[in-house]
Amino acid sequence: MTTQDDEKRRAAYAAAEVVEDGMTVGLGTGSTVAHLLDALAARSLDVRCVSTSVATEETAQRLGIRTERFDRVERFDVAIDGADQVDGDFWLVKGGGAAHTREKIVAASADRFVVIVDGSKMVESITPPIPVELLEYGFASTVRRLVDTLGGPVEPRDVPRSPDGGVIVDYLGPVGDPAQVAAALSSTAGVIEHGLFAPDLVTSVVVARGEQVEWLHRA
Ligand code: A5P
Repeated sequence: MTTQDDEKRRAAYAAAEVVEDGMTVGLGTGSTVAHLLDALAARSLDVRCVSTSVATEETAQRLGIRTERFDRVERFDVAIDGADQVDGDFWLVKGGGAAHTREKIVAASADRFVVIVDGSKMVESITPPIPVELLEYGFASTVRRLVDTLGGPVEPRDVPRSPDGGVIVDYLGPVGDPAQVAAALSSTAGVIEHGLFAPDLVTSVVVARGEQVEWLHRA
């Protein structure tokens, strides 16, 4: 029987094939990316990588994947990352692991952003929770303004600060049109970044369902 983790591994190994010697590579975060790191390490490629989280950084180093700081890399040939939800228009929700701020910067810096998911992540429409990272300064006020603007609850998540010092909350109200929610979040002072990734960030989604791996390319 194929498990969800088998599907994550199949999607990750398929996506790893796009990585070639000499590339700069953005590495996402999460359990699907853990399989990607295994796949890349197995190929002993000569690549320059940047991690989006401490967890990815530690695993990459343990596997012998060379990583460097993001302040010395201007762009990536490819970034590969998981997602919590992917809808039919290529909207993503990310940040289940609270790493969405760094993940979005890396995705936006990549010529190609490849999303790797098991079949359960493909959804008809985006639903809450939507992860959001807030500046601690003015935190209570920012939460109040988000609730007023979005019309739904915003709950602090019981996780450590992000590596950049931000506080993680989840928007739990209705989403409806993700573009409207994304615009409202982005225009709220005190929001560092949110976990709605717009379709124009995405190049391809690699989805594994059972033993089948399908590449979905954004038109
Ligand atoms: C990390 O903050 C997230 O964006 C992950 O990429 C996302 O939650 C997918 O995680 P899994 O690969 O563990 O399902």
